[in-house]
Amino acid sequence: MSVAVDTGNSPKHWNEFLKALEVNGLERPSMCVLTHWHWDHVLGISAAGVPAAACRMTQLHLQEMCAWSDEEKKAFYDSNIYAQAEYPSWEEIKPSTADIVFDTTLSLDIGGVDVCLEHVQGPHSDDSVLVSVPSDGMLFAGDSSAGDFSTPNIAYDPVLLRMYTEKIESMYFRYFLHSHRQPLNRQETMEFLREAAERGYYIF
Ligand SMILES: [Fe+2]
Repeated sequence: MSVAVDTGNSPKHWNEFLKALEVNGLERPSMCVLTHWHWDHVLGISAAGVPAAACRMTQLHLQEMCAWSDEEKKAFYDSNIYAQAEYPSWEEIKPSTADIVFDTTLSLDIGGVDVCLEHVQGPHSDDSVLVSVPSDGMLFAGDSSAGDFSTPNIAYDPVLLRMYTEKIESMYFRYFLHSHRQPLNRQETMEFLREAAERGYYIF
Protein backbone atom coordinates (compact mmCIF):
# COMPACT_ATOMS: atom_id res chain seq x y z
CA MET A 1 0.00 0.00 0.00
CA SER A 2 1.21 3.51 -0.68
CA VAL A 3 -0.18 6.93 0.16
CA ALA A 4 0.00 10.15 -1.84
CA VAL A 5 0.45 13.41 0.04
CA ASP A 6 -1.91 15.86 -1.72
CA THR A 7 -3.39 15.43 -5.17
CA GLY A 8 -2.00 18.43 -7.04
CA ASN A 9 -3.85 21.22 -8.77
CA SER A 10 -5.78 19.32 -11.45
CA PRO A 11 -6.65 15.89 -12.87
CA LYS A 12 -3.94 16.58 -15.46
CA HIS A 13 -1.39 17.08 -12.71
CA TRP A 14 -2.53 13.93 -10.89
CA ASN A 15 -2.15 11.90 -14.08
CA GLU A 16 1.34 13.32 -14.65
CA PHE A 17 2.16 12.19 -11.11
CA LEU A 18 0.91 8.67 -11.86
CA LYS A 19 3.00 8.59 -15.02
CA ALA A 20 6.10 9.62 -13.04
CA LEU A 21 5.42 6.82 -10.55
CA GLU A 22 5.16 4.32 -13.38
CA VAL A 23 8.37 5.51 -15.04
CA ASN A 24 10.17 5.09 -11.72
CA GLY A 25 8.67 1.67 -11.02
CA LEU A 26 6.72 2.87 -7.99
CA GLU A 27 3.37 1.63 -6.78
CA ARG A 28 0.21 3.63 -7.52
CA PRO A 29 -1.26 5.22 -4.38
CA SER A 30 -4.18 3.42 -2.82
CA MET A 31 -5.20 6.53 -0.88
CA CYS A 32 -4.28 10.17 -0.54
CA VAL A 33 -3.98 12.50 2.43
CA LEU A 34 -4.41 16.26 2.26
CA THR A 35 -2.12 18.83 3.89
CA HIS A 36 -4.60 21.73 3.49
CA TRP A 37 -7.42 22.95 1.29
CA HIS A 38 -5.61 25.28 -1.14
CA TRP A 39 -6.57 24.62 -4.76
CA ASP A 40 -3.12 23.55 -5.93
CA HIS A 41 -3.15 20.71 -3.38
CA VAL A 42 -6.69 19.37 -3.74
CA LEU A 43 -8.16 19.83 -7.22
CA GLY A 44 -6.74 16.50 -8.34
CA ILE A 45 -9.02 14.60 -5.94
CA SER A 46 -11.69 14.01 -8.58
CA ALA A 47 -9.16 12.18 -10.77
CA ALA A 48 -7.45 10.21 -8.02
CA GLY A 49 -10.16 7.58 -7.71
CA VAL A 50 -8.86 6.53 -4.28
CA PRO A 51 -10.07 7.50 -0.78
CA ALA A 52 -8.88 10.91 0.39
CA ALA A 53 -8.30 11.74 4.07
CA ALA A 54 -8.49 15.26 5.47
CA CYS A 55 -8.88 17.00 8.81
CA ARG A 56 -12.30 18.40 9.61
CA MET A 57 -11.24 21.98 8.93
CA THR A 58 -9.96 21.03 5.48
CA GLN A 59 -13.21 19.23 4.80
CA LEU A 60 -15.19 22.36 5.69
CA HIS A 61 -13.12 24.37 3.20
CA LEU A 62 -13.59 21.67 0.55
CA GLN A 63 -17.35 21.74 1.12
CA GLU A 64 -17.27 25.51 0.59
CA MET A 65 -15.35 25.02 -2.68
CA CYS A 66 -17.84 22.39 -3.85
CA ALA A 67 -20.63 24.90 -3.22
CA TRP A 68 -19.00 27.59 -5.40
CA SER A 69 -21.45 29.13 -7.85
CA ASP A 70 -20.42 29.44 -11.47
CA GLU A 71 -19.70 33.12 -10.80
CA GLU A 72 -17.44 32.29 -7.85
CA LYS A 73 -15.61 29.64 -9.83
CA LYS A 74 -15.12 32.05 -12.74
CA ALA A 75 -13.93 34.81 -10.40
CA PHE A 76 -11.36 32.43 -8.89
CA TYR A 77 -10.19 31.42 -12.37
CA ASP A 78 -10.02 34.96 -13.72
CA SER A 79 -7.96 36.12 -10.74
CA ASN A 80 -5.45 33.26 -10.79
CA ILE A 81 -2.92 33.06 -13.64
CA TYR A 82 -1.72 29.67 -12.41
CA ALA A 83 -5.21 28.19 -12.61
CA GLN A 84 -5.52 29.68 -16.11
CA ALA A 85 -2.29 27.93 -17.09
CA GLU A 86 -3.58 24.61 -15.75
CA TYR A 87 -7.18 24.68 -17.03
CA PRO A 88 -8.41 25.76 -20.48
CA SER A 89 -11.61 27.06 -18.89
CA TRP A 90 -13.12 27.65 -15.46
CA GLU A 91 -15.84 25.10 -16.22
CA GLU A 92 -13.30 22.27 -15.96
CA ILE A 93 -12.50 22.99 -12.31
CA LYS A 94 -14.15 20.27 -10.23
CA PRO A 95 -13.62 20.49 -6.46
CA SER A 96 -14.28 17.39 -4.33
CA THR A 97 -14.54 16.56 -0.66
CA ALA A 98 -12.56 13.97 1.31
CA ASP A 99 -13.86 10.49 2.16
CA ILE A 100 -12.17 10.10 5.54
CA VAL A 101 -12.35 12.98 8.02
CA PHE A 102 -10.47 13.25 11.32
CA ASP A 103 -10.49 15.87 14.06
CA THR A 104 -6.90 16.19 15.26
CA THR A 105 -4.87 13.09 14.44
CA LEU A 106 -5.05 10.06 12.20
CA SER A 107 -2.59 7.14 12.11
CA LEU A 108 -2.24 4.84 9.12
CA ASP A 109 -0.36 1.55 9.00
CA ILE A 110 0.70 1.03 5.41
CA GLY A 111 2.30 -2.37 5.45
CA GLY A 112 4.24 -1.96 8.67
CA VAL A 113 5.09 1.71 8.10
CA ASP A 114 3.31 4.25 10.29
CA VAL A 115 2.03 7.43 8.67
CA CYS A 116 0.90 10.01 11.23
CA LEU A 117 -1.33 12.96 10.37
CA GLU A 118 -1.88 15.86 12.74
CA HIS A 119 -3.85 19.07 12.36
CA VAL A 120 -1.69 21.85 13.81
CA GLN A 121 -1.90 25.58 14.39
CA GLY A 122 0.16 27.29 11.71
CA PRO A 123 0.77 30.60 9.94
CA HIS A 124 -0.17 29.47 6.41
CA SER A 125 -3.75 28.19 6.79
CA ASP A 126 -6.15 27.25 9.57
CA ASP A 127 -6.23 23.62 8.46
CA SER A 128 -2.52 22.76 8.22
CA VAL A 129 -1.88 19.03 8.55
CA LEU A 130 1.61 17.61 9.13
CA VAL A 131 2.23 14.17 7.67
CA SER A 132 5.09 12.33 9.33
CA VAL A 133 6.72 8.99 8.64
CA PRO A 134 8.83 8.52 11.78
CA SER A 135 10.57 5.35 10.61
CA ASP A 136 12.06 7.31 7.70
CA GLY A 137 12.49 10.58 9.60
CA MET A 138 10.28 12.30 7.03
CA LEU A 139 7.99 15.23 7.71
CA PHE A 140 5.71 16.25 4.84
CA ALA A 141 4.69 19.76 5.80
CA GLY A 142 2.63 20.93 2.83
CA ASP A 143 2.84 24.72 2.71
CA SER A 144 2.48 25.03 6.49
CA SER A 145 5.77 26.86 7.07
CA ALA A 146 4.85 29.63 4.61
CA GLY A 147 3.10 32.87 5.51
CA ASP A 148 -0.48 33.89 4.85
CA PHE A 149 -1.02 34.35 1.11
CA SER A 150 -4.17 36.39 1.72
CA THR A 151 -1.97 39.23 3.07
CA PRO A 152 -0.19 41.65 0.69
CA ASN A 153 3.33 40.54 1.67
CA ILE A 154 2.64 36.91 2.69
CA ALA A 155 2.98 37.94 6.32
CA TYR A 156 3.51 35.64 9.27
CA ASP A 157 1.18 35.94 12.25
CA PRO A 158 3.82 36.00 15.01
CA VAL A 159 1.73 34.04 17.52
CA LEU A 160 0.83 31.33 15.02
CA LEU A 161 4.41 31.12 13.80
CA ARG A 162 5.70 30.73 17.37
CA MET A 163 3.16 27.97 18.13
CA TYR A 164 4.02 26.27 14.87
CA THR A 165 7.78 26.51 15.49
CA GLU A 166 7.37 24.99 18.97
CA LYS A 167 5.34 22.15 17.45
CA ILE A 168 7.94 21.45 14.76
CA GLU A 169 10.74 21.55 17.32
CA SER A 170 8.89 18.97 19.45
CA MET A 171 8.63 16.47 16.60
CA TYR A 172 11.08 13.82 15.52
CA PHE A 173 12.20 14.27 11.90
CA ARG A 174 15.36 14.34 9.86
CA TYR A 175 13.94 15.76 6.62
CA PHE A 176 11.34 18.51 6.29
CA LEU A 177 9.53 18.72 2.95
CA HIS A 178 7.72 21.93 2.08
CA SER A 179 5.51 21.43 -0.98
CA HIS A 180 7.22 24.05 -3.11
CA ARG A 181 10.77 24.17 -1.75
CA GLN A 182 13.87 22.03 -1.52
CA PRO A 183 13.96 19.55 1.38
CA LEU A 184 15.60 20.80 4.58
CA ASN A 185 17.33 18.88 7.32
CA ARG A 186 16.36 19.51 10.92
CA GLN A 187 18.91 22.25 11.55
CA GLU A 188 18.03 24.03 8.30
CA THR A 189 14.33 23.84 9.18
CA MET A 190 14.76 25.48 12.56
CA GLU A 191 16.99 28.13 10.98
CA PHE A 192 14.34 28.80 8.30
CA LEU A 193 11.67 29.29 10.98
CA ARG A 194 13.94 31.52 13.09
CA GLU A 195 14.68 33.74 10.09
CA ALA A 196 10.98 33.79 9.19
CA ALA A 197 10.13 35.10 12.67
CA GLU A 198 12.79 37.82 12.40
CA ARG A 199 11.70 38.87 8.91
CA GLY A 200 7.96 38.67 9.54
CA TYR A 201 7.01 37.65 6.02
CA TYR A 202 7.57 34.77 3.63
CA ILE A 203 10.09 34.81 0.78
CA PHE A 204 10.46 32.33 -2.07
FE1 LIG B 1 -1.12 26.65 0.48
